[in-house]
Amino acid sequence: MPDNQRRKLTSAGVDPDRIPGHVAIIMDGNGRWAQQRGLPRLEGHRRGYRTVTRIVRVASDAGVRALTLYTFSAENWRRPQDEVSGIMRLIAAAAHRELRRLTDEGVQLRVSGRMEGLPDFVREALLADIERTKNNPGLVLTLAVNYGGRAEIADAVQSIARRVADGELSPEAIDEELVSKSLYQPDLPDPDLLIRTAAEMRVSNFLLWQIAYSEIHVTPVLWPDFAEADLLKAIADYQSRVRKFGGVPAPSGQK
Ligand code: FPP
Repeated sequence: MPDNQRRKLTSAGVDPDRIPGHVAIIMDGNGRWAQQRGLPRLEGHRRGYRTVTRIVRVASDAGVRALTLYTFSAENWRRPQDEVSGIMRLIAAAAHRELRRLTDEGVQLRVSGRMEGLPDFVREALLADIERTKNNPGLVLTLAVNYGGRAEIADAVQSIARRVADGELSPEAIDEELVSKSLYQPDLPDPDLLIRTAAEMRVSNFLLWQIAYSEIHVTPVLWPDFAEADLLKAIADYQSRVRKFGGVPAPSGQK
């Protein structure tokens, strides 16, 4: 990491040597941001999308290796039709434009969720980016789209059950590691830090299996207003926690 970046992190109270490897974000508050300004909800999502492009760069520059963003939940289809189609158009536009720029800078794009449930134009745009960036060496950006944590676990259970039915696996061989390896992104470590914007104290069916030991940071900032300083504050908050994973704190001097 360049010296000026280390200095920037240090002056924000962040230890450049203990950056969380995987950060997951529930991007909430787009609707409220728009409402507060008398604008249509979709304008909030447009601003939220701008925040995404900024935060991906900030996270990558800070040394975060994986960033997972809750972009569209399996429950979001219940929203008004024009809002749903507006978000779908934004995702496809992102895949064609800004995401393309980011991925040209080395970001690797992935999608978690039931892609078969997406409109063709969205799925095809995303699949093209996934394919184009699969060997990129930079930050792994996972968009959770048509994503539900319970659906992900159900899909994992189905794939394991199929292997048992095929005689490839015995029921006794099913352990936590196998379940982890049967999720949508088997090679990603669990998130170290889960951020939720707009003050809501809920997990909302996001990464249910993977957040078992994640540190949670909730901020009142609405997603369209979420800035570099807010991400660094969340990381500093994460670094102030003592992670125990059910045990006792490590003796001082150990990380
Ligand atoms: C939650 O705000 C936000 C969403 C459901 C959509 C998130 C989508 C984006 C940030 C834009 C597209 C992103 C990409 C990567 C292309 P909310 O509408 O639930 O806010 P509210 O709780 O204030 O109503």
